[in-house]
Amino acid sequence: MTVDNAAIARAARLLEQGQLVALPTETVYGLGADASNPAAVAAIFATKGRPSNHPVIVHVARDADLSRWATEVPREARLLIDAFWPGPLTLILPRAPQVPAAVAGGQDTIGLRCPAHPVAQALLREFQRGQGGIAAPSANRFGHVSPTTAQHVIDEFGQPGIGPLAAVLDGGHCEVGIESTIVDLSRLATHGPVLLRPGQISAAQIAEVIGRMPALPDVAAPRVSGSLDAHYAPSTPVALVEGSALVSTMQQLQVSGLSYALIAHTEKFAALHGVHLPADPDGYAHGLYASLREMDARHASVILVELPPLEAAWQGINDRLRRAAFDSAGVLDRLLKG
Ligand code: TXA
Ligand code: MG
Repeated sequence: MTVDNAAIARAARLLEQGQLVALPTETVYGLGADASNPAAVAAIFATKGRPSNHPVIVHVARDADLSRWATEVPREARLLIDAFWPGPLTLILPRAPQVPAAVAGGQDTIGLRCPAHPVAQALLREFQRGQGGIAAPSANRFGHVSPTTAQHVIDEFGQPGIGPLAAVLDGGHCEVGIESTIVDLSRLATHGPVLLRPGQISAAQIAEVIGRMPALPDVAAPRVSGSLDAHYAPSTPVALVEGSALVSTMQQLQVSGLSYALIAHTEKFAALHGVHLPADPDGYAHGLYASLREMDARHASVILVELPPLEAAWQGINDRLRRAAFDSAGVLDRLLKG
């Protein structure tokens, strides 16, 4: 980590000038711009190659005035903010009229989050004297795996100052490793709280705070690009394989002369060629995206992922893995029978 006060101040000034700055958060790195500057927000979409109707999360300081962003902050939001901010939780609230529509992908809601990473916090305190909002989607090209190190961001967009980014703040390897939990509180009267994206903060933890379980998304739920079926995907096909079938699958691939990369988590596979992630959900999530990138770089025929446990604590991980594997459905059948 090489972020000092001067680097934070410089990054804040660049943002205030309408430039793009990549910043670490505790979940993944964000591609940041001044949320009140429509041209800067447009540059986020152009740089990511993201469709303009996909809304972007606005990051705020812990004591920011939320009425600048949302017309209403219901009791449930206050309770969740007290319990989980700063932290990996995004709240969807009714959007205040002065917030540029482009940030919200044209929707009448706004996604707000106060990140816990000390570098993100320092930047939010310095940017517009702590009263600004930094619009920041994950700092990857649309549909790619999210970045969890500064090097991943540079791999996506090139060196700062040369490519589209004015600066990349290096805050080390993101601790959480998968994107924030998103809860929609913008339609409480009609739909109640809705879990739009699972993450480290679980549905059960949210229920404990607000007294009711958030519902799963329905078709009328606001659009969430992270909820497209195919997303978070490396370029190598990904196949999820039960631990019990892993050895035979590897043998079949070998016999057919096909190469594979492996992401496993149970002890008995630790010695195999590939990466071995911790068998607890927090440790697994922390290493997941870096492992997908590392295995992708092997340019094998397929990335085999040992299917993680299906318990609630693994929901965010299983969600991201199913999306990473979505476009690869049937890949093993095709490889082995083809
Ligand atoms: O952990 C995270 O949330 C990271 C870090 C950088 O904060 N950000 C992130 O941003 O994952 P992004 O843009 O890659 O994903 C944000 C998700 C998208 O799926 C987007 O559609 C949804 O949040 N979202 C943002 N604003 C929304 C809104 N007003 N209504 C519904 N969904 C919204
Ligand atoms: Mg993303």
